[in-house]
Amino acid sequence: MGIGISSLGHVGIHVTDMDRSIAFYRKVLGLKVTGLWGGDGGRENRQCFMRIENMHHNLVLFEIPKEVDRAKIDTSDSVRRKIGGLHHIAFEFGEREDWLLAVEHVRSCGVEIKAGPYVHAYEGKDAGTAFTGGSGSHAFYFCDPDGNRIEFYCWMMNVTKPSLAAPKPDL
Ligand SMILES: [Fe+2]
Repeated sequence: MGIGISSLGHVGIHVTDMDRSIAFYRKVLGLKVTGLWGGDGGRENRQCFMRIENMHHNLVLFEIPKEVDRAKIDTSDSVRRKIGGLHHIAFEFGEREDWLLAVEHVRSCGVEIKAGPYVHAYEGKDAGTAFTGGSGSHAFYFCDPDGNRIEFYCWMMNVTKPSLAAPKPDL
């Protein structure tokens, strides 16, 4: 079925305060700044390319134009917003040990955890299905300064055949 896409590469989001967002993504997520452009007579609105490891960027921040009234921008939790667009952005951990340490790290940054930590395993209301649904990933959630919901997870299952967790997947 695939057409050759190898992975979801990066996400671009609007931010209301570039300096605040760069500080947040550096401290709380440990992202590195590849480059910050704009606001100097070049691009009118600043853009910041941030990366996890060495690939040029995994997240791009686009600052909303200065003339836009910040008071009119909805920075509530993106999961609760009644608009189209972003729901949440998920970052994967290769090791559960690191994911567990990240729970403590996010808390130590003074960031409120909105949901979790928990296992995405529940589907249905009886004991027979209580551990068979979902992706099996371990996850927790918090928001960035603009209300964009961030997920940290590990241990997501593969889908290569039908199962209780995905009875009729495209294969
Ligand atoms: Fe998710």
